[in-house]
Amino acid sequence: MALILGIETSCDETAVALVRDGRTVLANVIASQVAMHEQFGGVVPEQASREHVRAIVPALDQARAEAKVGWDDVDAIAVTHGPGLAGALLVGVNVAKGLSFAIGKPLLGINHLEGHVYANWLETLEQEVEDPRFPLVAMIVSGGHSDLVLMRGHGDYLRLGRTRDDAPGEAFDKTARLLGLGFPGGPAIERAAREGDAKRFRLPRAWLERDTLDVSFSGLKTAVLHQVRALSRGQAAGGPPALSSEDVNDVAAAFQDAVTDVLSARVAEAAARWGAVQVALGGGVAANQALLERVQARCLVPVTCPPPRLCTDNGAMVASAGFFRYRDGQRDVLDLDILPSLPIA
Ligand code: KG4
Ligand code: ZN
Repeated sequence: MALILGIETSCDETAVALVRDGRTVLANVIASQVAMHEQFGGVVPEQASREHVRAIVPALDQARAEAKVGWDDVDAIAVTHGPGLAGALLVGVNVAKGLSFAIGKPLLGINHLEGHVYANWLETLEQEVEDPRFPLVAMIVSGGHSDLVLMRGHGDYLRLGRTRDDAPGEAFDKTARLLGLGFPGGPAIERAAREGDAKRFRLPRAWLERDTLDVSFSGLKTAVLHQVRALSRGQAAGGPPALSSEDVNDVAAAFQDAVTDVLSARVAEAAARWGAVQVALGGGVAANQALLERVQARCLVPVTCPPPRLCTDNGAMVASAGFFRYRDGQRDVLDLDILPSLPIA
């Protein structure tokens, strides 16, 4: 039995959660900076960092108030120390260190990607959760990552594949920008794709060499650019919007079809090849229901995926991963550092 405080500031959400035994969420506060970054079409690192400084203490207070617990009730403090934006990670890690010192509770540095995997075992009103069954294959797909890992037990990872260039979330965001759909692109593309015809345009899939479990999305991004240009040709500058809403929806659908085709094929192949008994998805792009449906259709073993609000960055996933590390004896000291490029394995 342990109550873990989870702190997450690796990108553009200031998030604090209180989670019991890695499963029961007592509070999960997320102060999103989306509105601020929206005007620039992406996350501006310095602004993200400054905003974390402003939002972190109110988020800590709100989480404790919602959970109705005091500092004495907290058993350990888990904080994302990588991967992520350096200036953003620094805020969470330093607050966690100060807090750990002030309340005399252990500090645990957590890998953000591991957090995304553990979001699968948080109890929610939406779905019943079971304990993880190993070995499992996890696919973490987000704005900065595309990692396919074999998980043989708690904290035991072998990386099977990764992206050679862009992360899928980045591809969603860039495609959305080209289509004039705003930021973040994932949810906007998913909505547009629902109205579109995925068969009108055929966008490329980069299958790479035989046997690899890696992915690549930069060619797809370029193909979207060419398709958008071809559709806008003949439009006068300053005239009406170049693409009709039908064009936008059809390109979004073709793009989403290409991404979900490749990702679902890779995770199904990895699960079969490594004898996984379960597949677990995580990361912002796992919020995409078309991706989940396709992965479920292709995998021969049960597939779990957190509800969309727990796929994107949050503190509960960090507290959950932190619980299992705490239980297994991990303790970090006050020289815990940020690791902006920390891999999962
Ligand atoms: O995990 P996350 O919140 O932050 C990172 O660790 O990067 O992921 C954010 C990414 C963004 O690129 C966003 O566009 C994408 O996840 N995303 C989605 C959806 N919701 C968020 N992509 C596809 N479909 C969605 N529904
Ligand atoms: Zn993330």
